[in-house]
Amino acid sequence: MIDMELVKVDKLISSVESNQMMNLDHLAEFITGVANHSIPVKKIEKWLKAVHSNGISVKETTILTRNMMQSGAVLDWSDNKLVVDKHSTGGVGDKMSLILAPALAACGAKVPMLAGRGLGHTGGTIDKLESIPGFNCSLTPKEMQKQIADIGCCIAAQNDAIAPADGLLYAIRDVTHTIDSIPLITASIISKKAAEGLGSLVLDVKCGSAAFMKTKSDAEELAKSMVGAAKGLGINTTAQITQMDYPIGNYVGNSLEVIGSIEILQGMGSKDTRELVVMQGSALLVQSGIAQNNLKGNEMIEEVLSNGLALQYFEKMCVAQGVKGSIAKELIENPRNVLAKSSLVTKVSAPKSGYVSKINSMAMADIARQHGAGRFAIEDEIIFDVGFKILVDHGQHVSSKQIWLEFHHNQSLSESEMALLNSILELDDRQPRVKSRLISTIS
Ligand code: URA
Repeated sequence: MIDMELVKVDKLISSVESNQMMNLDHLAEFITGVANHSIPVKKIEKWLKAVHSNGISVKETTILTRNMMQSGAVLDWSDNKLVVDKHSTGGVGDKMSLILAPALAACGAKVPMLAGRGLGHTGGTIDKLESIPGFNCSLTPKEMQKQIADIGCCIAAQNDAIAPADGLLYAIRDVTHTIDSIPLITASIISKKAAEGLGSLVLDVKCGSAAFMKTKSDAEELAKSMVGAAKGLGINTTAQITQMDYPIGNYVGNSLEVIGSIEILQGMGSKDTRELVVMQGSALLVQSGIAQNNLKGNEMIEEVLSNGLALQYFEKMCVAQGVKGSIAKELIENPRNVLAKSSLVTKVSAPKSGYVSKINSMAMADIARQHGAGRFAIEDEIIFDVGFKILVDHGQHVSSKQIWLEFHHNQSLSESEMALLNSILELDDRQPRVKSRLISTIS
């Protein structure tokens, strides 16, 4: 392979700096060079900084995304109409993928889900699944395709075979403070999803105090960019902007979120979590043509959650990904018998009576991370059993001294942590109006 002439990289950088369209052939060469480590890191840094400061056009973002996708393996389906997935920009208690993949497979969709380990406050989907004894998330693209043919869904860890250019670009963005760039986030996320060979994609873009995007307009800007790039690659895509001020559902933390997911798959669990699963699942059923309309899509997802079919697919997925049959069976019936438990549980009570108006998700995530539920550095080990069980719902009335929260942990709490735990709940004399999490939809 002939290495890219560095003068072409300099031209790419000066085009971005002067808000001119980049030469798209040179951009393709550049991304190939990033993936095969032939471009000097200093040049990549300069290009990333230029894109971060100046932005690039929608067309350039789409081409960048395509080049990043093509830098590695792309799953090949003879017909990808039924091949679907969703991506969430991440929230506290966001366990949707664990429920959605088997629920969609139970409705006839194919879900080759690639997911990440968390680098933020709480674990990612892969960390949650790895809290199940024996669950193997290291699947090759070939193994993913076989599992889809066998049972319709898999959840595998992002690996070097998929969009390798993103691996290096992301690592350099991290140290050059260029993460928060809409075109770079778009290309990073959509290139990996596009490598799954999807026909349809739903993006859950979180918005609020515990989300990366704090305001509706920022969340919509990111959503529009991601929808534009994914559609530009031929993927039928919609984005749902959803509220992320208070935690999703009643569980936060890795093994605790597996319990929360199984409760939903058992036809029980929090209304809040179920609403999001139904909303995302229904959109994908409609986009892939499995359901004629949203009403029908809602009914189909509700049905497989209520009749145990989605739970059976979850069990099959666990067994296909390495969990012993007897353990998977016990997991779906009594998850607490299978998953690790913390040695300590601290109960937090309400300081007065009133209606639950706010639950400070970021404070919860901070404490949980300090105790091992999330990482500070990529090499940190997650402690699966650390997290929260929330015993109240948003808008519910609580009495003074009523226990509303359990913190599951293994190390003792400092005085400041105890004070922080006691500050998480906000109460109001008047009952707040509890709205749907959905803020807007972009298609
Ligand atoms: N997640 C990704 O995979 N990439 C980003 O750039 C941001 C979040």
